[in-house]
Amino acid sequence: MAQNTQNIDALMAEERTYPPDPEFAAQANAQAGFYDQDPDEFWEKEARERITWFTDFNALKQWDRPHARWYLGGRLNACYNCVDRHVENGLGDKVAYYWEGEPADERLTITYADLQSRVVKAANGFRSLGIGKGTKVAVYMGMIPESPVTLLALARLGAPFTFVFGGFSAQALGSRMVEMECEYLVTQDASNRRGKASPLKPIADEAMDMAPTVKHCVTVRRTGSDVTMKQGRDLWWHDVVDTQSDDPASCPCEPMDAEDMFFLMFSSGTTGRPKGIVHSTAGYLVGVATTHYYVFDIKPDTVYWCAADIGWITGHSYIVFGPLANATTSVIYEGTPDFPDKARWWEIIERYRVNVLYTAPTSIRTHMKWGAHHAEQHDLSSLKVLGSVGEPINPEAWLWYRDHIGAGRTPVVDTWWQTETGMIMVSPLPGLTTLKPGSATRPFPGVEAAVYDEQGKEIAPGEGAGYMVVKAPWPSMFRTLYGDDERFRETYWDKFPDAYLAGDSARVDADGDFWLMGRIDDVMNVSGHRLSTTEIESALVDHPDVAQAAVVSRYDATTGQAIVAYVTLKEGAEGSTEKLAELRDHVGTQIGPIAKPANLVFSDELPMTRSGKIMRRLLKDVAENRELGDTTTLADPSVVDELKQRSEN
Ligand code: PRX
Repeated sequence: MAQNTQNIDALMAEERTYPPDPEFAAQANAQAGFYDQDPDEFWEKEARERITWFTDFNALKQWDRPHARWYLGGRLNACYNCVDRHVENGLGDKVAYYWEGEPADERLTITYADLQSRVVKAANGFRSLGIGKGTKVAVYMGMIPESPVTLLALARLGAPFTFVFGGFSAQALGSRMVEMECEYLVTQDASNRRGKASPLKPIADEAMDMAPTVKHCVTVRRTGSDVTMKQGRDLWWHDVVDTQSDDPASCPCEPMDAEDMFFLMFSSGTTGRPKGIVHSTAGYLVGVATTHYYVFDIKPDTVYWCAADIGWITGHSYIVFGPLANATTSVIYEGTPDFPDKARWWEIIERYRVNVLYTAPTSIRTHMKWGAHHAEQHDLSSLKVLGSVGEPINPEAWLWYRDHIGAGRTPVVDTWWQTETGMIMVSPLPGLTTLKPGSATRPFPGVEAAVYDEQGKEIAPGEGAGYMVVKAPWPSMFRTLYGDDERFRETYWDKFPDAYLAGDSARVDADGDFWLMGRIDDVMNVSGHRLSTTEIESALVDHPDVAQAAVVSRYDATTGQAIVAYVTLKEGAEGSTEKLAELRDHVGTQIGPIAKPANLVFSDELPMTRSGKIMRRLLKDVAENRELGDTTTLADPSVVDELKQRSEN
């Protein structure tokens, strides 16, 4: 198993514990006995409490391994649950989103009534273009109010969507639209990034050249950047949406079957082709609303901020659908944490009196690097719960977060989950759990997580590490991989006959607390972004000068892992500094800037086994400057020595 040794050593040495504060515990949403609930009863109760059904479900679940169906016979609409019912229940004046633009003085307060008005207009506009139940739509946007509005409007119409993160390339967007056969695309001219306009529509144009199924593209004017509008295909958001009625009765919420596909989220797997992870409507919504309510201890007056991007699963589940289903007030921030200065986040927390902050370890480590003095300039006393997600959090970062952001009193909930799981699976509950820095602690009620050995036997608490698995279906589990049920079975269900294979390694300590230790496959986690080694290798090999490429990750103190690429060039090509930049840019264009290797090493040869497989394990050792492992299966052991030398230079 490939693991990150520095981090694991730190985790193993960690023994500090933090019991819940009695005052917090007394008012917490989850009280004693919470973990003793029967999973089926729990998920049935939560579904009725948290969701309004147009037609009640008549069976809780059906498990035909590996296919699960939940809340059978139930009919509902996600937009109705996130927006309309709150207005009907007298919460129209409650703030849904405090939107903070990147330019320092641009902000909006959007109430639930405002949100409904915006969503109904957008849904009417989309409908006028032909979008309806079952129409597939791609979304490629930044952190502007129109992003959640678009998702909610599509949910209202019953149109399944795929939101592609704005940092992905034209290639990545195009191939996802082709795979889903999207007929529409919603985007914006450009997004604000550190005071500059970062283009989206021009990238979308290139992507649409690859995806002939796209009939119309709707573009929000955000920055005013120059864009080309193709006659007949491209329309401005303001032309399509602004003149529409905002009367909810003019565009009723489409009753959807519990199991109707809600959205697709593409994610990196072990092969070059991203996987289209399919989420259902009811199970997903119940899962994200329930976990959001208990893990973050949401109260009617909570101000909550998940600082992820809507384009990732974290944003879907915990910026849009979970918080809105719970009628929560959230913050959305458009820009980067260092614009105009490195105190921007803390200024936002002070301004809105934020109670819950949810972010990734990589951001925490970045703030650590910048220094606590930025946070000290601001009043952060409103914070009650701090959350972490996306990668293992090292105890040092955990403690810094609690001490410097949480004034040494705020619980840190380290939440483990995946695009596939849809919702938080393992996490402390802030009023119940004794915290340990670096441990995600316990499975959420109704989640039967375990650690298995190679033979599929459960490893007892305190008995060592193995494969992270889940032994029973949970409501928000992904239903399949889009168009590839075979790959769904092979990747997740074939290894063990009775459990879901998550792809992570983990151990359970003697107290029963889970410690997640990183991926066991060729998936990397760079700044909390999931990337596949093979996908980046394919991008490199796609360059005309590249003969062969091998990609591994190495430890990085800020980003968790960093990408290292070893490249063999074709005859005649020269491994110059210019070539290096060219290849990094090529990866940027093929996948997106987040996939550009941090290091790129040119090599005449790559270490191969005698059967011709690249030995990534050895390259990882070289990349991390570690003692080299066993090289006896290597065809030419001198290759590694040479690589070591080159990497050091
Ligand atoms: O390796 C685990 C890591 O992120 C992977 C899932 O990535 P993705 O599908 O992009 O979803 C990220 C947001 C949920 C997991 O397989 N991971 C996520 N959260 C944690 C984590 N590793 C350790 N601790 C966590 N809290």
